[in-house]
Formats: sequence, C-alpha cells, structure tokens
Amino acid sequence: EKGGYDHFMLKEIYEQPQAIRDTFRGRMLVDQGLIKMAGIDDHIDKFLNARRILIVACGTSWHAGLVAEYIFEDLARIPVEVEYASEFRYRNPVIDKDDILIAISQSGETADTMAAIKMAKDKGAFVFGVCNVVGSSISREAHAGAYTHAGPEIGVASTKAFTTQITVLTLIALQLAKKKGKISTSDFHRYLQELDTIPEKVEKALGSNDHIEKIAAIYKDAPNCLYLGRGFNFPVALEGALKLKEISYIHAEGYPAAEMKHGPIALIDEQMPVVVIATRKGHYEKVVSNIQEIKSRSGKIIGIVTEGDVDVRDLADHVIEVPDTIEFMTPLLTTIPLQLLSYHIAVMLDKNVDQPRNLAKSVTVE
Ligand code: M6R
Repeated sequence: EKGGYDHFMLKEIYEQPQAIRDTFRGRMLVDQGLIKMAGIDDHIDKFLNARRILIVACGTSWHAGLVAEYIFEDLARIPVEVEYASEFRYRNPVIDKDDILIAISQSGETADTMAAIKMAKDKGAFVFGVCNVVGSSISREAHAGAYTHAGPEIGVASTKAFTTQITVLTLIALQLAKKKGKISTSDFHRYLQELDTIPEKVEKALGSNDHIEKIAAIYKDAPNCLYLGRGFNFPVALEGALKLKEISYIHAEGYPAAEMKHGPIALIDEQMPVVVIATRKGHYEKVVSNIQEIKSRSGKIIGIVTEGDVDVRDLADHVIEVPDTIEFMTPLLTTIPLQLLSYHIAVMLDKNVDQPRNLAKSVTVE
C-alpha cells in the first residue's frame, strides 16, 4: 500500500506532480485560455462584490492560506485576512454578508475550522470550502467549494494536501483576477501556460532527493533550526519549520527573513542551521543581504535557490536548486526540498515519520 516507499510521507511527497495535475484536471483549460470552477463560477457575483476574503484554517492548511493571501492580493487585488480558526472563532470578529470566508482543511473535519464556519454563516457570510476529503463535514457545511484532488493523505505530516491547496487557491485567484479585469488576457494565458509546467518542475525538484539526504545527515543532530523566507515564500518558511518540528521533534522556527534583526539573530552561532528560501525573484537581493548577516555570525546556511544561482551559492554552506518559475508560483517548488529535508532527518533519527507522537491526522476536538 506504500507503493514501494518506506513511508506514506515519502510516497505522498512523490505523488505531488500527479496530485497537482489531478487538481488542474477539468479546471484549467490551457489551450482555450480558460479556468472553469463551478464553485466559483456559480457564485461569481458574490466573489466580485466581496468586501474582503477571510481565510480560516489550522496548521499546514493555515500556511496554504497565507500563501493565498499574497497571491489573491497581488493578482486579484482583493483584501484578504488569514486567521487561525481557533482564534477567529473566539474573538468576536467583525464579519457580515459582504464577506467571503474560505475555510481550508485537508480532512474537512477539523473542529475549530468547522466552528469558525458555523459562526461566519450565522453572521451572513458566504462560506467556501477547500477540502481534500470528499463528503467531509466541512465540505458539506460550506455554501460552495472546490476539492483538492490530492487523493488520500495518510501521513500525519501534510505534504501533497498543502501543494494542492495552493494549486486550487491559485486557480481561484487567477479566475477572480481575470473576471475583475486586474490582469491582462495575455498575462492570464501566460500564467496558465506556466502553471501547466509546474508538475514537471516539481518532478525536477524531487530529483534533488539524494543531495538533500546528504545535507540531512549533516544537520540531523542540530537541536534547533531556523527557516527564513520573504513574500510568497515567507509562509513556506513557516511550513518548513512545522514539518521539521512535527516529525523529527527538532525545535524549528519560521520567520520572515527581515525580522531576524528584530530578535532572532541573537540565536545565530556556528551550531545553528538556517534554511533560507532565496529564489531569484522579487526580494532576491534583500534575501542575499539577510544571508550575509547570518554568515557574518557564523550560522550554517542551506539556501533554496533557483537553478543556476551563483550569488547565494558563494555564501551558503549548501544550496538546493529548484527550477525557475513565475514568482507567485515558487511556493509550489520551494516547499518540496523542505519536505524532503525533514523527512530524511526524521528517518535518520529513527522517528515515527507517518505517526509522530502526540499527533492525530484529523483534530476533531478543540
Ligand atoms: O485537516 P486539516 O487540514 O484541517 O488539518 C489542519 C492541521 O491539523 C494539519 O495541517 C496539521 O498541522 C498537520 N499535521 C501538518 O502537517
């Protein structure tokens, strides 16, 4: 049932090219230059008139929500707020019928996310679900939705659910951007064509597995680890840190790279591995100078870089390459090496990768 893999987590990491393709299927019609998503198209007026979009989720799904915030605001110019469902439901939020609430949940059973939906519905908001499990409680409670077609995710550490959540949310952002006239037809087509290449680029990113395993062997005994990113890749840094924490039990934190100097840089010494997402896009120069700051304090740098990168390679102790793509699509690629890095570290530490201590696949109690 693990299809020849040692763990479900590894199998699911490797299933991502197919899972993303399955999530596109029937929705992204590249040749026709069209996106078709019934859950959006049937309620398009609600989306076009929405005052803002609220996203609620927990854990990894919350990280997908944060990536979506950057993409929605950048492409569709709709204000977005992302909240932990557990905080949202108890803080008397201002919400009304002009708001859209997007709830993201792999299992579709997370208690806090469900409670947030019920509250938003009571206040008149339109609720859209992004779930993986067909027929799950959240998918039934939402007014509309779109499934991620990741297939069953067994490993407690979420992998393919995350990348397919980002895939669905990217399609929604593109559809809304187009309908709102915020992007040109030619950009829309260009984006669809590029998105269509993402599954093969994920495959290419998976090709670094052996290299990543060697890096894992060097850092497996580190007591702490930092993950840094900016912009679209800040949430990926959070997700990388969560992956390491939950399966290897190494303390890890994700930070926006520029926040380092506001405190966490005090942690840096020669014992501290720092994983920096530094793709050659948007904030590249700024990230390079953040890397220099860490380097001058003797931190060990593992750079996640664009193929052919030279600047970070010069500074970093190790680099892991991912293929080039359009900036807002980079999270779908930069996530891959972080999943593999935590997987290999956990295996080397002999941890229970698929069923980490204290954790359950779906959290049905608050
Ligand atoms: O099923 P959900 O997406 O609602 O689950 C949310 C979190 O419990 C989940 O993402 C959790 O953080 C994972 N163990 C992360 O790998």
